Amino acid sequence: MQSFAIAPSILSADFARLGEEVDKVLAAGADIVHFDVMDNHYVPNLTIGPMVCTALRKYGIEAPIDVHLMVKPVDRIIGDFLEAGASYITFHPEASEHIDRSLQLIKAGGAKAGLVFNPATPLDCLKYVMDKLDMILLMSVNPGFGGQSFIPGTLDKLREARALIEAGGRDIRLEIDGGVNVKNIRQIAEAGADTFVAGSAIFSQPDYQAVIDAMRAELAQ
Ligand code: DX5
Ligand code: ZN
Repeated sequence: MQSFAIAPSILSADFARLGEEVDKVLAAGADIVHFDVMDNHYVPNLTIGPMVCTALRKYGIEAPIDVHLMVKPVDRIIGDFLEAGASYITFHPEASEHIDRSLQLIKAGGAKAGLVFNPATPLDCLKYVMDKLDMILLMSVNPGFGGQSFIPGTLDKLREARALIEAGGRDIRLEIDGGVNVKNIRQIAEAGADTFVAGSAIFSQPDYQAVIDAMRAELAQ
């Protein structure tokens, strides 16, 4: 199992001061920057694209950037994110015509690859591509917006995904995204997650460090 990682979702950051916001969460102890890409087609919202990822790298952000693609089609945007400095690129299997090909495109470009499963999407395709995965991301809300409530059924799905990872014998990150906060993070970790996306729980508070410290204290118990 990978060590625990906190991945603030910049969807809830102040976009007018994005560089400073990312600096601030990293200084507060975040491990990974979660970067939500929404296209107003696969999901009903429109956010940021490769230019913003490039801008963060130019600004000096060196931490891993975890690009969560909520776009359809998938393949034609992968190259742009590879060039923009993405560390992880994850996509939803139902948004790709050829899942294995999309994973290969990501890996061939030198980034880590992952699949994202919506709350009601089964994990069926996982077994065919486990050898190409660096990350499995389970959505614990329906994608498109920050600030929604954690769907409790995701805990069982986390256990299922954790068992598949253990059985496969490769160290794959198991990330959870949606409604994660200080109160539920421990239960989510117990169900098998090692990487925790949190948007509103962190950015809605004035003191990012206090929230991240409180999350780590829960995880240490
Ligand atoms: C939702 C996004 C999430 C979102 C999480 O579609 O993928 O990353 O920012 O936000 P919170 O933590 O507020 O649920
Ligand atoms: Zn996300």
